[in-house]
Amino acid sequence: MKKLSIYIHIPFCLRKCTYCNFVSFCNKNDKKEDYVNAICQEIKLRGKEIGKYYDVTSVYIGGGSPSTLKEGQIAKIMSELKNNFKLLSNCEISVETNPGSVTEKKLLEYKLVGVNRLSIGGQTLNEDILKILGRHHSVKDTKMAIKLAQKIGFENLNVDMMLALPTQKLRDVKKMAKFLVKKDIKHISPYSLILEPTTALYKQVKSGRVSLPSEDASVEMYNYVFKYLSKKGYHRYEVSNFSQPDYESKHNLNYWQMGEYVAFGLAGHSYLNNYRFANTDNFEEYIETVKSGKLPVVSKEKLTVGQRKDETLMLALRTAEGLNLKEFDAQFNCRLLTDKKKEIEFLTRHNFISVKRGYLRVNDNAFYVLNSIIAKLV
Ligand SMILES: C[S@@+](CC[C@H](N)C(=O)[O-])C[C@H]1O[C@@H](n2cnc3c(N)ncnc32)[C@H](O)[C@@H]1O
Ligand code: SF4
Repeated sequence: MKKLSIYIHIPFCLRKCTYCNFVSFCNKNDKKEDYVNAICQEIKLRGKEIGKYYDVTSVYIGGGSPSTLKEGQIAKIMSELKNNFKLLSNCEISVETNPGSVTEKKLLEYKLVGVNRLSIGGQTLNEDILKILGRHHSVKDTKMAIKLAQKIGFENLNVDMMLALPTQKLRDVKKMAKFLVKKDIKHISPYSLILEPTTALYKQVKSGRVSLPSEDASVEMYNYVFKYLSKKGYHRYEVSNFSQPDYESKHNLNYWQMGEYVAFGLAGHSYLNNYRFANTDNFEEYIETVKSGKLPVVSKEKLTVGQRKDETLMLALRTAEGLNLKEFDAQFNCRLLTDKKKEIEFLTRHNFISVKRGYLRVNDNAFYVLNSIIAKLV
């Protein structure tokens, strides 16, 4: 049986953070029920088509903020999934939460329906920065969400933290990293801020109202997190993903290993049978299309062998394990070490990459130029 990961997009938030360009809305509270019904319908339609061919290894309910759904709505989605797909007994089931919308009742519901991994968007433990970012929660809410999740028995917890934020200092990053380690958080995702042109923060920075840390200060923050977490027994298995041993996210790993996945919901992107396809990102169109019994796919593309080869290499180099040369050569009928001899020699000589035990990997100190390294090799 083939393996499959499932992503479910929940596009609702309490408030739009100033830096975020994810597909999410804070003015559609009255549409949640219609949306959840549409998701269930889409799961049924897709399930009829492919459900029997796959074993599901991971489910990721992300967003937006799935924790802003009303009580019972995650349970409804999970029940539809279980009716239409075969979830393996060790399936990793994650839900993304915003600390401002976490309640004990909701977490108990998640636990009851089989969710076994929670992700909490903490971002920073500096109250002033949370305000600048327009986050709809306090530091106390983040601490409370972690406490509640652990009390209810969610052992496998991820906390997102953000680096290179307005007015952020190295000491803020140190404080948060230390706190998370002390709380024995199994998985930590530090994201360096990406200043997205469509966001409010972009305008504030461009007009000089808000300033960001320098490039050097931002690199220092990331390097600190890397060194500190490594010392504390965490392993960086991808640029922005650190975990204690055996707590790597199966769902994330599947993306980087070019495994198959199907996404439900607004703007979901899927990869099945060498085809990439995308759902509409228009909220009303999504609901109406699914209601009328059709899948909401608006674009579909079959990847060429060349595209698959480049993507396989690009995704594998994001991971600490790197690219399995034997498998890569066999899959694409090539000899990477010979075909890219000049580039690989240059990158190795300058300590950017290494080739060891059949894997080509980016060296720890070179992840900051990852995109340039990839550009040389594809
Ligand atoms: C869907 S959100 C997580 C859950 C929830 N919506 C929240 O924010 O608390 C995914 C994560 O992406 C990260 N993120 C979003 N926009 C970003 C940006 N522009 N630059 C870097 N990280 C970003 C944040 O760390 C956020 O926690
Ligand atoms: S809560 Fe999360 S998804 Fe929603 S706007 Fe903020 S960062 Fe984006």
